[in-house]
Amino acid sequence: MATAPKDPAPTIPQGTAYGRGAQHAHDDLTRVGPGTPMGELMRRYWQPVLASRNVTTRPTEVRILGEDLIIFRDGEGRPGLLYPRCMHRGTSLFWGHVEADGIRCCYHGWKFAVDGVCLEQPCEPNPHACRPEHRQPWYPVRERYGLVWAYMGPPERMPALPRFDSMEPLEDGETYMAFDNSLGSHGDFKGPEVVPYSWLHMNDNVMDPFHVQVLHTTFSGTQFVREFEVMPRVEFDEIEAGVIYQAHRDLADGRHVNRVSTWMMPNVMFVPDVAMRPGRPNGIGMSVPVDDEHSRILMAMRVPADARDRPMRGLEAENFKPWHLRTIEERQDQPGDYEAQAGQGAISLHSEEHLVTSDKGIGMQRRMLRRALETVAAGGDPPGVSFDEDAVVRVPSGNFFG
Ligand code: FES
Ligand SMILES: [Fe+2]
Repeated sequence: MATAPKDPAPTIPQGTAYGRGAQHAHDDLTRVGPGTPMGELMRRYWQPVLASRNVTTRPTEVRILGEDLIIFRDGEGRPGLLYPRCMHRGTSLFWGHVEADGIRCCYHGWKFAVDGVCLEQPCEPNPHACRPEHRQPWYPVRERYGLVWAYMGPPERMPALPRFDSMEPLEDGETYMAFDNSLGSHGDFKGPEVVPYSWLHMNDNVMDPFHVQVLHTTFSGTQFVREFEVMPRVEFDEIEAGVIYQAHRDLADGRHVNRVSTWMMPNVMFVPDVAMRPGRPNGIGMSVPVDDEHSRILMAMRVPADARDRPMRGLEAENFKPWHLRTIEERQDQPGDYEAQAGQGAISLHSEEHLVTSDKGIGMQRRMLRRALETVAAGGDPPGVSFDEDAVVRVPSGNFFG
């Protein structure tokens, strides 16, 4: 009598999601509040706060590096960045009124200049004899390339506000145009002003040339130009205060392009023109921490003077639909940087990463950041800060055809 075949021994499934290790992020790189190592490192560089055109006589609340502040422009055009709680009895200067020489608190009328100096205490017997210690906490601000920049670090270590050879001089007929609302906006197109994830997500993205071929070209369709269909051959190199990559592509039309992208300490990016126009990049971008779990991408660009009336480059693409009008399904069909980076969570779980050959640039960035944390902890100045107001930083970025 035939016996029924035995069931094969059950195989033990491998690699299941059960029993995964503890999860953690790189807190040393992602925590940016006052007193944290990365917060202190970030505070040793000038950081852009808002586009100049959005700093007006209407006080505005801004959050940067985990600090809530008030930004405004006095009646004579000077930008100011103050701690919001009035030093008298603590109401917010958000409710203040701006005058020619400062901002007046709504409650009892103390008036502060953009550098925090108290100009008037109208309820006091001698309203103009403010005591010197009655100074509203403030941060130095300056304007360049259409952005308002702040220095939030120790005053005695304040470096020069940097200048970059990719941004100046302007070419004939050019002007600066700056954006402070992360995904950009023009006309109907509106992106989130602040993105709900760590500054490190965008910072990692800068030294990630391969996602341009995948995410932006073959996966989601052509989000920039078709030249990116070719998987690049990439070399990463350290420069004095940053990392660059050279992405070489042999194009279908026989041309060769070397696309050089630059990241500079601690959060600055010089991405060459995404339409592959030759030459130096026409913009600078910064991934600025709002707090540990939020960031703001600010950009300044050199543009033709009439560009303010035209759509931003790239937004004319046939398949372009403003981000805020897209359904979840449309965003699944054509995810972009926002979806990929928000998808990593508010702070990526670095314990779960598997960095491989194509992530070499990210490893170089993080090592440079960590060396700088040590330098600052030991009392030194981090790489890239300069005290020479006239120095112009050379930016190697560009699309170079040959
Ligand atoms: S609380 Fe601002 S003047 Fe009194
Ligand atoms: Fe991207």
